[in-house]
Amino acid sequence: MSNDDKTIIPREGILSIPLYIGGKSGFDGLSNPIKLSANENPYGPSRKAIETFRQSQDNLAVYPDGNHAALRIAIADAMGINSKRIICGARSDELIHFLCQCYATKGDEIIHTVHGFAMYRISALTVGATPIAITEVERHADIPGIIKACNERTKIIFLANPNNPTGTFIDTEELNKLVDGIPKHTLLVLDGAYAEYIEKFDGGIELAETRNNVFVTRTFSKIHGLGSLRVGWGYGPEHVIEALQRVKGPFNISSIGQKVAAAAIKDMEYVENCRRRNLKLRDELAEELKKININSDRSYTNFLLLRFPDSKFAKLADQYLYKNGVIVRNVSNYGLETGLRVSIGTSGDCERVIETLTEFQEINHAL
Ligand SMILES: Cc1ncc(COP(=O)(O)O)c(C=O)c1O
Repeated sequence: MSNDDKTIIPREGILSIPLYIGGKSGFDGLSNPIKLSANENPYGPSRKAIETFRQSQDNLAVYPDGNHAALRIAIADAMGINSKRIICGARSDELIHFLCQCYATKGDEIIHTVHGFAMYRISALTVGATPIAITEVERHADIPGIIKACNERTKIIFLANPNNPTGTFIDTEELNKLVDGIPKHTLLVLDGAYAEYIEKFDGGIELAETRNNVFVTRTFSKIHGLGSLRVGWGYGPEHVIEALQRVKGPFNISSIGQKVAAAAIKDMEYVENCRRRNLKLRDELAEELKKININSDRSYTNFLLLRFPDSKFAKLADQYLYKNGVIVRNVSNYGLETGLRVSIGTSGDCERVIETLTEFQEINHAL
């Protein structure tokens, strides 16, 4: 069989969809590497979630609950919301795909911010829709710009809040302006993958509760420390949940994933603890890096987007960090060529970032 065989051909446009580029995770030849490239929780999941994982290894032959009943109730109880308006996904990415599958097709437009999470564009292209990237103002979503770009073809707006990879945040007042300004036929999807990192922020849940065209997505991959299990959830109007259920596979999340995620969301004390630790280390790291002439916008997440004078400098810094075992995220595929995204690790990890970048700045006479 030859790779050149042109008999079985993917649908038009499939092969021009850009591949998702994840953070580096290979550690070959590095001594004592630290991975700060995927915004994972450096403390892992709560002990209660780990214990549940250890106890969930029986019944491997039995299919999981396709309705995720216990998990949806655990989420509903933890968040004070209605379990009937929750849908769970095998990661929140899956829900992004479902939304595109349900609401957009060829000829439709899907809006995202220019430095929005890469999967919005990829998922839009997967269903043949046209992704529309809206420029930002100093790496902040431009709410009037988004409203202005809406038309009769706009089916979905994806907005991560706070956003990855910029770390910036749109407050409730601006969110309300956005919801009021967009057409009624446009579904606003508020991606709250990092919402837990902001104290008392509901990630748009109240809006999703009261508006017919607002949907929220969340993940267990970040603050809950369960990136390997691939579990996410969404919340919104019942008519959206009903549509999404039509495209969801019958058993999309493993039993172990469901049980462990339920244990994780019940342990809100642990979530709060991680949030507090992250906030302290993140703000200290930003301050220390500022002292060595490396700036970042105020971050509302578990990472900093560091800015360098030019793309060459950013690339050299990335290489220097990597050579010294500090793996961070090059974000040039997001059009942020002068930036590097650094996840907030443990206090030891942060010290290592500071030490390594101080050396780098000294070598490059930037201090
Ligand atoms: C903004 C945003 N949304 C969604 C996701 C996807 O998370 P999940 O692991 O649930 O697919 C990420 C992951 O990095 C993200 O940064």
